[in-house]
Amino acid sequence: MLPEIFTYYPTLYLFDREYQILVPMEKPALLWIRVGERNYYDHFAGTIRSDNGVHRITVPQQALDEAGCYTLCWRTIIDRKPYFPESEPEQQYTLSFRKIGEDPKFFHASDVHGAIDVAIEAAGILPDMDALILNGDITNFLDREEHCLRILKLTGTVTKGEIPVIFARGNHDSRGRRAEILGGYIPHREGRTYFTVRAGSFWALVLDCGEDKPDSSQEYDGTVCFHQFREAEDEFFKEVVAAGEYNDPAIRHKAVIVHHPFCHVPRPPFDIEQELYGSWCRALREEIQPDIMISGHTHNPGLFLPGGELDQLGQRWPIGIGGSPDGKHGAEFRAATYHFTPEGIHFAVVDKEKNILEEHLLQKEAEV
Ligand SMILES: [Fe+2]
Repeated sequence: MLPEIFTYYPTLYLFDREYQILVPMEKPALLWIRVGERNYYDHFAGTIRSDNGVHRITVPQQALDEAGCYTLCWRTIIDRKPYFPESEPEQQYTLSFRKIGEDPKFFHASDVHGAIDVAIEAAGILPDMDALILNGDITNFLDREEHCLRILKLTGTVTKGEIPVIFARGNHDSRGRRAEILGGYIPHREGRTYFTVRAGSFWALVLDCGEDKPDSSQEYDGTVCFHQFREAEDEFFKEVVAAGEYNDPAIRHKAVIVHHPFCHVPRPPFDIEQELYGSWCRALREEIQPDIMISGHTHNPGLFLPGGELDQLGQRWPIGIGGSPDGKHGAEFRAATYHFTPEGIHFAVVDKEKNILEEHLLQKEAEV
């Protein structure tokens, strides 16, 4: 049983080559995580944080992958006075951890739009998943801190703190009175929410397209600067291509995980950034050559092949759309599963009753 001081199980976001472990707590407490012989602290420049609600501790991916378990260590604060601060004796709780294995299975949710409990129920279809992929619009908007905390309810409840989460932001996750504090609940580095992940033979580029209309839209009234954000992301994208890590022969599965399938140009005013998105599509076609793009946003789950209805900017890879919301605009909740195997990718669309609605096998091209 998870000790009562923890609001939910920890969330272990895989980000670049580290786990960003988020731990929501009910009371002010000093928190650190022990992996093997080493302690990792939630601290600001050496001062251990105790009054921040959701703790964040970064652990190198390799250290936790090798250890296969970690221990939450905490001391509940009594009075953190300037001299001789008082806190309760140290307590500990150990959790097992399973790294993403070869031929990984993922449960994918996008466009949950706040129906957190429905998504938790649906995730039961894949109890042996290697990781949970959350791919945008998990919330409808962020008007209160509680809306942000719901993300950690979903991740903590599904994973029990025992497997990783891969998180890509959606446009709705950037809206509302408290959208500016989302960084306290998701993986990022100084506001950079795009990154790569590598786990064994699996490699993915995780991108964040931000909002879906021009920054000048009256709907935002000057509250966003996503064009600049995407320009910085473009620099990162170029660095990823220049590094060419995805060419490592040990990598057998390559994916792009992004909420908005950006090779699709929607109707105005959603037809933004065609030049930038066009250059990203070119880099995917000519350089990265992903096996699949894992997306959401359109609320139209299924498999979309090159030349299909999502291909306006030169799509040369299949797209799995894996989510639609529960009861909004006539839609019904949908999620997806992805299983990467030597023969190819098994993709399935599932509903909230854990039924498989459609299944596809994307066969791997025979290597010459
Ligand atoms: Fe969306």
